[in-house]
Amino acid sequence: MSSMCGIIGVKGKSNSSQLVLKGLKRMEYRGYDSWGIAMANRKLKVVKEVGKISDVAIRPFIIDGSQLAIGHTRWATHGLVTKENAHPHLSCNGEVAIVHNGIIENYQELKKELIEKGHKFRSATDSETIAHLIEENLNKGFPEAVRLAFSRLQGRNAMCAISTSSHELVGARNGSPLIVGLNDTDAFIASDIPAFLENTRNIAYLDDLEMAVFDKSVKFFDVMTGKPVQKKIEHISWNIEQAKKGDYPHYMIKEILEQTQSIERAAKQDKRQLLGIAKEIRKAKGSFLVACGTSGYAAMEAQYFFSGIAGKHLNSVVGSEFSSFRHFLTPKSLIIAISQSGETADTLEAVDVARKMKSRVISIVNVMGSSLARQSDHFFLTNAGPEICVCSTKAFTSQLSVLLLLAYASAGKLSEGISLLQDTADQVKLMLNDGFLAKLRKLSASLAQKDDIYVIGRGLNYPIALEAALKIKEVSYIHAEGFAAGELKHGVIALVEKGTPCIAFVSNDEHRQATLSGAIEMKSRGGFIIGISPEQDEAFDAWIPVPDAGNAQPLVNVIPAQLLAYYLAVARHLDPDKPRNLAKSVTVK
Ligand code: M6R
Repeated sequence: MSSMCGIIGVKGKSNSSQLVLKGLKRMEYRGYDSWGIAMANRKLKVVKEVGKISDVAIRPFIIDGSQLAIGHTRWATHGLVTKENAHPHLSCNGEVAIVHNGIIENYQELKKELIEKGHKFRSATDSETIAHLIEENLNKGFPEAVRLAFSRLQGRNAMCAISTSSHELVGARNGSPLIVGLNDTDAFIASDIPAFLENTRNIAYLDDLEMAVFDKSVKFFDVMTGKPVQKKIEHISWNIEQAKKGDYPHYMIKEILEQTQSIERAAKQDKRQLLGIAKEIRKAKGSFLVACGTSGYAAMEAQYFFSGIAGKHLNSVVGSEFSSFRHFLTPKSLIIAISQSGETADTLEAVDVARKMKSRVISIVNVMGSSLARQSDHFFLTNAGPEICVCSTKAFTSQLSVLLLLAYASAGKLSEGISLLQDTADQVKLMLNDGFLAKLRKLSASLAQKDDIYVIGRGLNYPIALEAALKIKEVSYIHAEGFAAGELKHGVIALVEKGTPCIAFVSNDEHRQATLSGAIEMKSRGGFIIGISPEQDEAFDAWIPVPDAGNAQPLVNVIPAQLLAYYLAVARHLDPDKPRNLAKSVTVK
C-alpha cells in the first residue's frame, strides 16, 4: 500500500511537467515499479503507468506548458504494483494532487474517519489519505490545509501537493528526505539532489516537520506551529556530469571504475577532525558501529580495522537489530553510523535510540545534507560523488577508507594510514586495466549459468566475502553465500558439489594458510576454486591477481568481486542498475 520512492514538485515558468519527468528519470534508482505525473493548469491532468519511467519519451510532455507539476516513481513495499496504486493521488473534488514517500503508520484510522465523512478512495494506498485530508480543510487555504493534513501523519513521510485553485505547490517532510532547489525561473522540491542538479546547484534542505510553500516565491514553515522558518540557501559542489552515465553502458560499471579516484578523495579528510574523533573513540565507554546492507559490512570490517590496528574493540550491529542493545547505551557511549544515502530508516532509527540514551553520534555519509548527517554530532563525508546504481560499490570503499583512517588515528598512527591509502589508491589505478577487466568478464561468462556461488575469507576478508556474495545476489540473482573460511568444516561444506564455484580471498596475512586449507577442502569435494589473491597457488582453478595492500586489502579485494557481479548480470542479460525488488534508499522500516 505504501511506498518508498522518489518524489518531485516543480513550479516554473512553463513546462514544469517536462522538468518533473526529467527529475523522475534521474531518481528512478529510488523505485521503478510504476510512475506518475500530475500537471496543473485550469484542471489537473494526471498521467500514470506501471513500468519504468526511463522508457517514457519527454516529447509529449513538452507541449503541456504547465507551470505546476508533481511526480512520483514508486517502489512498492506492501501494495500491488497497479496503475490505481501509482501516484499522484487526487482529492474527491479533483482539485488537489499529492505524491508521497514513506509509510503513514496511522493510515487505517485516518482512512476510516475520512470514509465516514464521505470521501471515496480510488486506490489501496495509504498515500491517498493525504489528498482527502487536505480536501477536508481547503476552506482554510491550501498551504494551511496541507499543514494540518501532514501534522496528522505518523511515521517517516515526505510529500508534495499541488492545487488547481490556489496554484501553489507545497512540500513537507518528517523522516524522509526533501530538498528545495532554486534558480531564476524555476523552483524545485525533490527527494534527492540529482533530480534537479541539471537546473540548479542552489539548494535548501528541509528539516523534519518543516514545509515549503511555493507561490510567487518560496517560504518555509514549521509544520506543528505554522510559524515561518528561515532557511539557508547552500551551493553544492556536485555537478550533473557526475550523476550521468556518460559513455558507460551502466552506472554500476562507471561507479566501480570511479574507485580509481574515489578512494583518494575519501582519504582527504581533515586531520584535526580525525584525531578529535579518534580521541572520543578511545575515551568512550562502549562504541558501536551501526549500518545496513553493504554499509553494514563496512561497519563489520571496521571492527577488524580497530581491533588489528588500534587494539580497540568496537561492536558492529545492523541498524534493524540495534534497539536490542539499547540497554548498553549511556551518555558515555559512542555510535558510529555509516550510510551512503544518509536516509536509511533502520540506521536512522538506531540513531534515534542512541539519541534517547544521550549517546554521542558520529556518522560517515556520502550524501551531504542527508538526514543522518544532520542528526549526528559530527559527520565525515566520504566524497564518493553521486552513487546512482542501486547496488553500492564506490561508496563502500570510500566508507572503508574513512574507517581505516579512524582506526589508524586511534592507534596514534594517522600518517601511516594516510600513506597506506595513497598507495592503495595508486595500486587500484594500476589494477583496473583492460586485461584485468577482460579476465573477469571471461570468468563471469563461464559462471553465468551456475546456481550457487560460495565465497570464503578470514579476518579482514570475512566481511569482504559477505559483501562479495551480496553483490552477486543483488545483480545476477545467482544464489551466493559468504562464509568465514573456518566455518566451512562446521557444516557449510555439505553444499559443495562437483563444479560448484567457490571464491577464496587469500591474502598475505596470518590467515593465508588456514584460508588455503579451506579452499583445498572445497576443491577435494569438486569445488572450482577462484582465488582472489596477490599470489598464485596450486589450490586455484582460476586466479585473479590483486595487489598486496596490507591493512587496506579489503578495499582492493572487493573490487574484482564487484566486477564479477557486474559481468555476471550482463552475461545473464539483466540490468545491474535496476535489480528486481530493490531500491537505492530504503527509507521505510
Ligand atoms: O544508503 P545506505 O548505505 O544506508 O544503504 C544501506 C543498504 O540499503 C545498501 O547498502 C544496500 O544493501 C545496497 N543495495 C547494497 O548494494
